[in-house]
This record gives sequence, structure tokens and C-alpha cells, in this order.
Amino acid sequence: MNFNPGAISPSDETGIARAAELLRSGGLVAMPTETVYGLAADATNDLAVAKIFAAKGRPSFNPLIAHVASLREAMALGQFSPKAKLLAQTFWPGPLTLVVHARQDCPVSLLARAGLNSLAIRIPAHNVALALLKAVKTPLAAPSANRSGHVSPTLAQHVAADLGPSVDLILDGGPCTLGVESTILSCLEDEPVLLRPGGLTRQSIEAVLQSPLAKQTQGKEQNKEDDPLLAPGLMASHYAPHAKVRLNAREGLAGEAILDFGPAMQAPSSAPRLSLSPSGNLIEASANLFAALRQLDHSGCHTIAIAPIPPHDLGEAINDRLARAAAPR
Ligand code: TXA
Ligand code: MG
Repeated sequence: MNFNPGAISPSDETGIARAAELLRSGGLVAMPTETVYGLAADATNDLAVAKIFAAKGRPSFNPLIAHVASLREAMALGQFSPKAKLLAQTFWPGPLTLVVHARQDCPVSLLARAGLNSLAIRIPAHNVALALLKAVKTPLAAPSANRSGHVSPTLAQHVAADLGPSVDLILDGGPCTLGVESTILSCLEDEPVLLRPGGLTRQSIEAVLQSPLAKQTQGKEQNKEDDPLLAPGLMASHYAPHAKVRLNAREGLAGEAILDFGPAMQAPSSAPRLSLSPSGNLIEASANLFAALRQLDHSGCHTIAIAPIPPHDLGEAINDRLARAAAPR
């Protein structure tokens, strides 16, 4: 089997054992999760974590999520309020990241936490990621496995195209079933605050909390240097293909590539086109989103025209990503 840097490996027993060995010796491994592929390193190893920032070209003020295999391990890293614990028990493993106060003796590298006293944690709902976490027996810091600011990867091949040999091994778990990143909630105060809409819908969370979820206010004034409510990585321009992005398009213009949702929009017949979901299904659309953006980007178009996506359920996360993809760079 080929284990050269950047090689894609099957996520069988041999592949997972090799990946665990690489992680234990400070290497970088791309692992599949139910949301997107993550670029994993031993979260307790400063040098390994530094390699993540270098490989992604990621600014060091942007902290990483610590992935663990159990609630017990999560609670050894951070302090869970009763609401945080309820959410963790209800939704983990799953596409939910909780930001909590880090414990005094939290072993996660300060570099991974960008120097903050808080820590973002999640348990991924993916057999390969869980098997890897159990094999390495250490929390794994893992941002999405793309170049910083680019479209997130939902296939092993996307990781290889973005990061190549700067990753020691890419575990192939096939397409990510969910396709958008986890929902991030800050649980630093009494009431959880939504920092990033994602794969777990607001409706599911509100049903458990039995109250509406507050959203981080854009442009809110920072009153402390490490204001816990701000997700440092939520830059306006993110998830961006090379082509421009035109949102809420009702028809395609000359030279544009088309991304439909539901009924096909009018467009020149030569236009490259894909559909997020011909039947208008938001689950299917989120699973297809990032791969479709990458594929249309390769058509050489100057702009990708995207049909309106309804704002409810997974539409909240899809619209969030599209707004950032369309933001001025
Ligand atoms: O689905 C996901 O969440 C994927 C998979 C691989 O787990 N990971 C992911 O990581 O999307 P990343 O690094 O691309 O996005 C993590 C976000 C960033 O915007 C970062 O700023 C925020 O989480 N974050 C991390 N730690 C934080 C903290 N202590 N407080 C607030 N935001 C934090
Ligand atoms: Mg990311």
C-alpha cells in the first residue's frame, strides 16, 4: 500500500492504525467526518498543531476544534454548564460543537486554542473518525481540511487537491453525508449563543432548550480582549471558490455557471450547470454544496449564479456559507 505524503488510503484497519501512528508522532492526517473532512493533529502537541496552521495558511488567531470520542473525555478538557451537558448528551456524537470554559489543567495546546481560555469541542458521528480517536487516545485538533478561506472538502480528493503532500495521510471515507460544518454554540454564559449555523438545525436545538436561541450579533462591540462570544474564524469572506458568486439568481447570464435548487432556471444552453437538489430537498442540497462549488469552479466560468435557497432548517447553514462565498474578498 502507498503511504507517501499526501497519499489517499482506504479507511480500513491498516489505514487507521497507520494514521494513528502518524498522529502519535506529530504528523497530520486528514480524516472523514459526517460534516466535512478534518485536518487532524494531536491537540496536545504544539509542534503538530503548528503544522496545521502552516498547511492551511490559517491565521494563528483562529482557534481549532478539539475532537474527542466520549463525553467523559470532553468533560476532562472543559467545564460544562447544565445546558451544555444536556446538549452534549442529546446531540453527541453529531454535528454540534460546544464552546466551553477550558479546565485549568486542559492539555490542549494553547496554540490550538489561539490563547483563549475557552475551548471548542465536538464528538464526530463518523465510524472512521471515532475509530481513529480511540486508537490515538488523545484529543485531535481538526479544522476543515482545505486551504484557509477556500471551499471545505467533502471528498478525500478535495483534500488532496487543496493540501497535497503537506498532509501525511488522507483517510478515504467516501463523501461526507452531511456536507456542511458543525453548528457552533457558545456555552460560556447561562444562555447558549449560536456562533455558526451548521449541520444541526436551530429548530432541533431550540426544541431541547425549550427557548429561542440567541445569535451572535454581527459587528457587536468587543468589550474584552478575548470576548468569548466572538468566533474568531467567522470572517466575512470564506468558503470561497475562485469564481465570483451571485446569489438569489432567477436566471443565468452569459458566461455564468448555474447552480440550481428545485426547478431549473433559464440560462444559455451552453452554461455549465449543476443542481444542489432538483426536488428542492435541503438535506440533499447541503450534502452537494461544497462539491458542486468546486466542480463549477473548474468549468472556468467567471461567476457562479446560485438559485435562492429557503432560509429554514439546513437552509440557514447553506445560506450562511453562500453569503461568505459571495462576500468581497
Ligand atoms: O464540522 C466541523 O466543525 C469541521 C469538522 C472537521 O469537525 N471543523 C471545522 O473547523 O469546521 P474549522 O476550523 O474550519 O472551523 C471552526 C470554527 C472557526 O470559525 C473557529 O474560529 C471557531 O470554530 N472556534 C474554535 N474555537 C473557538 C473558541 N474557543 N471560541 C469561539 N470560536 C471558536
Ligand atoms: Mg473551515
